[in-house]
Amino acid sequence: MKIIASNFKTNHTRASTKDFVAQVKQFVVQKDIQTPIYIFPPATALDSFELPKNVTLGVQNAYPTKNGSFTGEIGTEQLDEFGIKTVLIGHSERRHVLGESQKISIEKFNFYKELGYNIIYCIGEKLEVKEQGVDKTLEYCFGQLDGIDISYENLIIAYEPVWAIGTGVVATTEDISTIHNALKQKIDSPILYGGSVKPSNLAEILKIESVDGSLIGTSSWEIESFQQMIEITSKA
Ligand code: PGA
Repeated sequence: MKIIASNFKTNHTRASTKDFVAQVKQFVVQKDIQTPIYIFPPATALDSFELPKNVTLGVQNAYPTKNGSFTGEIGTEQLDEFGIKTVLIGHSERRHVLGESQKISIEKFNFYKELGYNIIYCIGEKLEVKEQGVDKTLEYCFGQLDGIDISYENLIIAYEPVWAIGTGVVATTEDISTIHNALKQKIDSPILYGGSVKPSNLAEILKIESVDGSLIGTSSWEIESFQQMIEITSKA
């Protein structure tokens, strides 16, 4: 079964998230969809939603701590309040916009692994790396897995080329299958593709055998579009 994940980034409010989640729930129940669905709202919209067992609410980022003095961050004390056990780590915007290092990604990974969280760990190259060819791209992506226990049972990898995120430039199916096939040689965990995925290209991307699902930003924020992509995923 292929997986679908929606990363809200800095979009949606507490009220609109509630509405979105309710509509996902209704759609999934009505269509009897078993596809694993992950939703990552902003931290202010986390809540204890009653969800079908295939729908999981996660957090886009969390600090490796229970609590303490880490201004602007949240830890497990805040996540536990809502029973959140799923975290995104190493998203390219954390790495490249917010300057998060591989070291902190590793610290977060180890901390949340120890607690048994579901971890969606993101990797992906910038355009200047892609332009140096497939070998360099793979070297870069494997570098982002340095220090990460890829045999962790609750791990999902998301391959998201930075140049394809939020740009409308989707990688070609050839680009995607080359990288996914190479990653699959070393990684047993499911590997999602992310970067300008939308209803019109999702089916084609999911046809690639080494793609286990997708992590979607922009085109997942509208409920109708996300529902359409849930349905496409359920049929893939
Ligand atoms: P996008 O973002 O779908 O807007 O390209 C994907 C992601 O960053 O997860």
